[in-house]
Amino acid sequence: MPDFHNPTGVTMSLARRRKLLALAAQFDFLVLEDSPYRDIRYTGEPIPTLASLDTEGRVIYLGSFSKILAPGLRLGWLAASEPLIDRLGLLKLAADTQCSTLNMSAVSTFLDTFDLETHIGNIRRTYLRKKNLMLGAMREHFPANVRFTDPDGGLFTWVTFPQGFDTADFMRDHAVPQGRVAYVPGGTFFPGAQEKNHARFSYSTPSDEAIGQGIATLGRLLKAHA
Ligand SMILES: Cc1ncc(COP(=O)(O)O)c(C=O)c1O
Repeated sequence: MPDFHNPTGVTMSLARRRKLLALAAQFDFLVLEDSPYRDIRYTGEPIPTLASLDTEGRVIYLGSFSKILAPGLRLGWLAASEPLIDRLGLLKLAADTQCSTLNMSAVSTFLDTFDLETHIGNIRRTYLRKKNLMLGAMREHFPANVRFTDPDGGLFTWVTFPQGFDTADFMRDHAVPQGRVAYVPGGTFFPGAQEKNHARFSYSTPSDEAIGQGIATLGRLLKAHA
């Protein structure tokens, strides 16, 4: 996930992209570039996709309408070299025959009727506003030892609490029962040993008002219980 990674919101630099492709060539592995947030960039310049830097047909690029149109669609696309596409097509057939024809037809009609770029421009502005709201509220209300990423795009910020703080316990014992605020505890995002002192905060769905209230409430609970 090189662009606005889920859950951290960070983006891979061009140098690291090149290094990853060099490693793929050296050790002969494929790269699955899962980039559904790529178009939701609100600051800075786009960095070339791994697929565009790939000269050996090693990268499979995945895009999705889930993050730019509607999450329930579960409809996307991939770009890959021809031999890979043929085999991936067979795998898709074996997995679920095909995506829902109704959803594909609805998206096709949407694309024929409306301008997708205009829509993406709207959601970019909306998410930038919401990100700034959430990060501004965290700077104002959270204890100074809580850190968080400041993404150039996407839907999330990754929040890191001091060592020894358990975000899952805090949500269960305080944030939800006392503040009616939920977030995604970070432990399960780790493939190996789980670090419990992180959380993913999303600013996509809640209203501006809910973001302000939720963060202020969390800040109050953190100061009272952490
Ligand atoms: C990195 C990443 N890839 C893919 C998806 C899902 O895409 P789709 O709805 O097309 O399955 C998500 C989130 O739902 C995601 O965060």
